[in-house]
Amino acid sequence: MEKTINAHTDQMVDVLLARMSVREKAGQMTQITLDMLLVGEMYQVEEPHRFDEQKVKTALIDYQVGSVLNIAGKPYSRDEWLDVISHIQTTSINTSRLGIPVLYGIDAVHGTNYTTGTTLFPQEIGMAASWNPALVKAAAAITAYETRACGIPWNFSPALDVSRQPLWPRFWESFGEDTYLNAIMGQAMVEGYEGDDLSSPYQVSSCLKHYIGYGMPLNGKDRTPAWIPERFLREYYLPPFEQAVASGARTLMVSSGEINGIPTHANDYILKDILRDELGFEGLVVTDWEDIKFLHTRHRVAADHKEAVRIAIKAGIDMSMVPDDFSFTDHLIELVEEGQIPESRLDESVRRILRLKFELGLFDHPVLRDDANYDAFGSQAHRQTARQLAGESITLLKNENARLPLAADTKLLVTGCTANSMRHLNGGWSYTWQGQETDTYTKGELNVLNALRAHSGEALVSYVPGCTYDQVLDLDEVRQAAAQVDHILLCLGEETYTEFHGNMDDLNLPAAQVELARAVIATGKPVTLLMLQGRPRIISSFVDDLESVLLAYLPGNEGGNAIADVLYGAVNPSGRLPFTYPRYANALVTYDRKFSEISPIQNSRTCYDPQFEFGSGLSYTSFAYRNLWLSQPQIQATDTLEIRVEVSNTGQRAGQEIVQLYLRDEYASITPAFKRLKRFRKIHLEAGQKEVISFTLYPEDLCFVGHQLEWIMEKGSFTVMVGDQQNTFELI
Ligand code: BGC
Repeated sequence: MEKTINAHTDQMVDVLLARMSVREKAGQMTQITLDMLLVGEMYQVEEPHRFDEQKVKTALIDYQVGSVLNIAGKPYSRDEWLDVISHIQTTSINTSRLGIPVLYGIDAVHGTNYTTGTTLFPQEIGMAASWNPALVKAAAAITAYETRACGIPWNFSPALDVSRQPLWPRFWESFGEDTYLNAIMGQAMVEGYEGDDLSSPYQVSSCLKHYIGYGMPLNGKDRTPAWIPERFLREYYLPPFEQAVASGARTLMVSSGEINGIPTHANDYILKDILRDELGFEGLVVTDWEDIKFLHTRHRVAADHKEAVRIAIKAGIDMSMVPDDFSFTDHLIELVEEGQIPESRLDESVRRILRLKFELGLFDHPVLRDDANYDAFGSQAHRQTARQLAGESITLLKNENARLPLAADTKLLVTGCTANSMRHLNGGWSYTWQGQETDTYTKGELNVLNALRAHSGEALVSYVPGCTYDQVLDLDEVRQAAAQVDHILLCLGEETYTEFHGNMDDLNLPAAQVELARAVIATGKPVTLLMLQGRPRIISSFVDDLESVLLAYLPGNEGGNAIADVLYGAVNPSGRLPFTYPRYANALVTYDRKFSEISPIQNSRTCYDPQFEFGSGLSYTSFAYRNLWLSQPQIQATDTLEIRVEVSNTGQRAGQEIVQLYLRDEYASITPAFKRLKRFRKIHLEAGQKEVISFTLYPEDLCFVGHQLEWIMEKGSFTVMVGDQQNTFELI
């Protein structure tokens, strides 16, 4: 059946392609931003937004551009989106020569975040902290539903960047530092977005980004050089893309960075040999924003823009996110006319673009399908999933003297710069690119302070701001208010940002926030630190003086409610860190450290001394591990290994535990890591309940990328670690 449909689609693509001119093909490979169709200048669209029909004609009829993306500086309601998409599709289909629908793309990275009234979930770093792929898949499915409800069929998500450099301003847009966790979460999102049938009115095409090595800029700044040996690239960065491609992901966006001196947009080895030939990716490859031009202006591998177009096309891109003129299209046409690029090369790309448009059903239903109903758009049920995911992401990092949860009648002082705004719950990519106007678009939603007041009543929750991001406010007022309460919730963290706007030089928290922390600690009242942030800002100068610490990442619109749920115990925290929380700004070592990073020479310091470990996080109950059992003490290269472990809830309340299985190859020709995550499972146990959890390891789980850049395994001892249990086996 599947085969027949594919063959039919291919036939329709071929028929259309045969009728297309070079100009029309180059047009299909062009993607422009919405500003290019509206009245006003680029980045200064006139209010109220309206189409500039001359611009529409140029783009959709004269150039027949294949794709449009983005918002023009502000979000739309669902109805506004439907008007926008209808106008674009009607023009393109009814007026252009071939009547090809436009492929509209958007960043819906934590919910349909460029539409008002939708459901906003935690950002990816928080999703990863839930260690609950089923819930992440459900969130992605809701995002697909609400995005398609706006007539938009293409989502630039998930990011599979494996961010191992916490300074990087897009750290929070990824699933953290571990390869396996990225791969599992990435697959969950792709499945949630694409479902089984892309033409369904409730699914969208995903877009894997940013391929590849984007998450590891050496200096921590966005879009700057990465130096990643190929061995390392294959072992740590490629697997999430490989798994997502195997799960059927239809499109992929190229990284704006460079690896080992080669901009990824110019790297045919990465874009063709690895992506197409090895991974077997057959879908559409789109550039990132302006990146072909950047081959000339930033990376300087092309002496002019036309040369840049030639290089990128040769390297294997299918569509250029230009996004603000038609220079790519013009150059591409010239290059074909001059014989520098064969027309057949355009055919390859256009085939992929048209195929996706057919698969999405855009030729039949360019805006919405008549049989679809979107009653659940922004519904209570969708919000409930967001609240659950936010609740499951929140990570209890410290809880001395079982200070949390708070009793219902606790008199609470809320203070700090992240307490009283929706902006700090959502981060960037929220209503606008930098997320700075979130409070304007979320009237009626509950920030941390308001959610706590809604929960406990105004009388029990007082508030003094104490500081802004980097300015101390009235500390005396804080001290006076503190004298009246039983407990202080200190809300610190970051402003909103993404991409280069979030570049910074120092992971330390601004001095003003540390000063507020010191002031509240000095009151002698118990203090809970709540961090709302996209990357781990250093708290080592005061964290030892706190009894309890909650990390909420960027939990989305339901974050305030979820924080109240956790603080008062309606939800037992089950989030676990998806990255290593550093103790010092300049000591950034990931959990999968090498032995040379943990074995000090003589009296030197160890390199690995984090504030909180990858995978760590507490619960209001306690769990104990026993009897780690392996099916065999010795295995051969083709065997599988069964592993069982007994986990019990030894505390007083029900809770969720994340059973994490790590493996260590004791000796290997490439220095082995101290441990690598191989499996995990999130389980629910009632107080006193015990369960035996089983895992299976396959031969490939024992492999690493060897000197010859191939996955290999070597005989010898391996150690399996689960909780505080460990056991060894031999590969013979
Ligand atoms: C970002 C991408 C995003 C694209 C389209 C770029 O600047 O790097 O992540 O998908 O813009 O908005």
